Amino acid sequence: MTNATRPIILTGDRPTGQLHLGHFVGSLRSRVGLQDSHQQYILLADTQALTDNADNVEKVRNNIIQVALDYLAVGIDPSKTTICIQSCLPALFELTSYYMNFVTVARLERNPTIKSEIQMRGFERDIPAGFLYYPVSQAADITAFKATVVPVGEDQVPMIEQTNELVRRVNRQIGHEVLPECQALLSNTGRLVGFDGKAKMSKSLGNTIVLDASDKDIKKAVNAMYTDPNHLRIEDPGQVEGNVVFTYLDAFDPNKAEVEELKAHYRRGGLGDGTVKKRLEAVLVELIAPIRERRQELAKRPDDVMDILRQGTLECQKITAQTLDEVKEGLGLFKL
Ligand code: TRP
Repeated sequence: MTNATRPIILTGDRPTGQLHLGHFVGSLRSRVGLQDSHQQYILLADTQALTDNADNVEKVRNNIIQVALDYLAVGIDPSKTTICIQSCLPALFELTSYYMNFVTVARLERNPTIKSEIQMRGFERDIPAGFLYYPVSQAADITAFKATVVPVGEDQVPMIEQTNELVRRVNRQIGHEVLPECQALLSNTGRLVGFDGKAKMSKSLGNTIVLDASDKDIKKAVNAMYTDPNHLRIEDPGQVEGNVVFTYLDAFDPNKAEVEELKAHYRRGGLGDGTVKKRLEAVLVELIAPIRERRQELAKRPDDVMDILRQGTLECQKITAQTLDEVKEGLGLFKL
């Protein structure tokens, strides 16, 4: 496909920590595929991360490099996907300022994502203003690239809705369609449960497998995995639903037919947890070992990684400045 006919896709990540298998299943794996069919941009949303991390700039800054290493290690190819840093794209902030006049505080407070995030963080009424309006800044991100496809998790769907409301409002003010509406592309794999089986994989819960996990870490995590607590003897029938080992085999084992056979065998009885865990361990080592090696190689060349981010960001400065120009002209502002 030529560039002109490829749909524009923008994904964004708040760089809050090293990525893990949950991110791999939820987004990274599909981004590697999407870069061949779409014009793909990945935004490292460091400014958005600061909306609840204002005193943690150093951490956010370091995480940019960690996350970039993760992208490159899993196969995001900078000749196909453009990676950029949000805080280095000034047009996004100008667009945000104009868009702020087309949304009310009440509407922002009703945004379900923001509402639940405020609750989770225990902000009550002491919400950083930057946090409350981050949906507007996200609308600026999306529209600045004229993205029509935005891959997000279920929890971010209200952001897409709010973006499209702003798009319609701004276009109406301008009098013609400068900004395109966008569509959420939902990841179909759902969120990966942590290896403890308790909740989704998350760093704060300590139940993650990172993308550069050692073979030993993988073994440890698999051995600790929650299975069927009633499957006491090998010959007992076992339950597959809610059994983390099978959840992970479903997510990562390339041989679906064999996984189905294993499930049937486990349900009948006669298949021990140890055997299934050995298989999963081998599957995860095969997946992670090459990612880990690529990541370690890249980590030795931080200047090359910075160059990729610099090149990508410079390209995106032009794209986003172009959209800003169109919006300002459309609104009828001075052009000096
Ligand atoms: N809000 C997203 C998150 O929770 C990050 C993000 C920022 C984003 N800008 C974006 C996602 C633009 C998609 C498009 O991580």
